[in-house]
Amino acid sequence: MNNGDSSQLAAHVKGISKSFGDGGSRLQVLKEINLEVRRGDITMLVGPSGCGKTTLISIIAGTLRADAGELSVFGHDLRKMSTAAITRFRSRHIGFIFQSFNLIPTLTCAENVSVPLLIQGVSASKAEKRAKEVLDQVGLGDRFKNRPSQLSGGQQQRVAIARALVHEPQLIICDEPTAALDAKNGHVVMELFENVARGKDRAVLIVTHDNRIFHHANRIANMDDGRVMEIHDVDADNPPPEHLQHVEKL
Ligand SMILES: Nc1ncnc2c1ncn2[C@@H]1O[C@H](COP(=O)(O)OP(=O)(O)OP(=O)(O)O)[C@@H](O)[C@H]1O
Ligand SMILES: [Mg+2]
Repeated sequence: MNNGDSSQLAAHVKGISKSFGDGGSRLQVLKEINLEVRRGDITMLVGPSGCGKTTLISIIAGTLRADAGELSVFGHDLRKMSTAAITRFRSRHIGFIFQSFNLIPTLTCAENVSVPLLIQGVSASKAEKRAKEVLDQVGLGDRFKNRPSQLSGGQQQRVAIARALVHEPQLIICDEPTAALDAKNGHVVMELFENVARGKDRAVLIVTHDNRIFHHANRIANMDDGRVMEIHDVDADNPPPEHLQHVEKL
């Protein structure tokens, strides 16, 4: 247990608030959120549509700035970093899987997955070799040359997952990573995430509505209307809460 020491946590969110719009149309989406994402854990974020989950993980990933509060990721104070420094930090330490996949339509699968490595200066041939390895792990070993438009939703989702894993970032953040996946592929993906979380200096943060995967969580944070309402630590004596349990498991 970390007892709140930010540098020992994968991410430490303290009093984070965020609004969109201004004047009469101002909408407060996050209301003084507190959350500890521990190293070695799979943390899941659940809650109704529109409660602020994507907004919160975008702030933790550094793609969106909070209005107030404190945020550190692996001991780095993101609130004090310049946008350029955050971009550098993100490309090295964070793998982000977007709710809408965000694949580049003009690139093949292998090229899409290579992007994080190319940004780090890895040569194109090495990047492609590694990209193919990870595509193989997510069951797309025969689709290297396809473009996203030639793939099903679940296949595109797996390309996005491969892209987030390829550079072995410390923190994997994913928005609904198994929503488009069948049981077999969902299981493969959860195994890959478990592998990541086994690294003691790594962590996985997952937004999900998928009740097939809650048993993979170490910690479940339940959000509603811009607030974290409840944190549930899962272990052998403490299974996921009844309302999150489901007979089917991935
Ligand atoms: N860029 C933006 N400008 C204005 N409002 C926004 C913006 N992004 C999000 N919102 C609003 O913030 C609220 C929270 O959105 P968010 O995408 O974080 O929800 P969510 O919990 O991820 O929902 P879902 O489960 O449907 O993905 C919503 O009311 C949304 O309309
Ligand atoms: Mg969302």
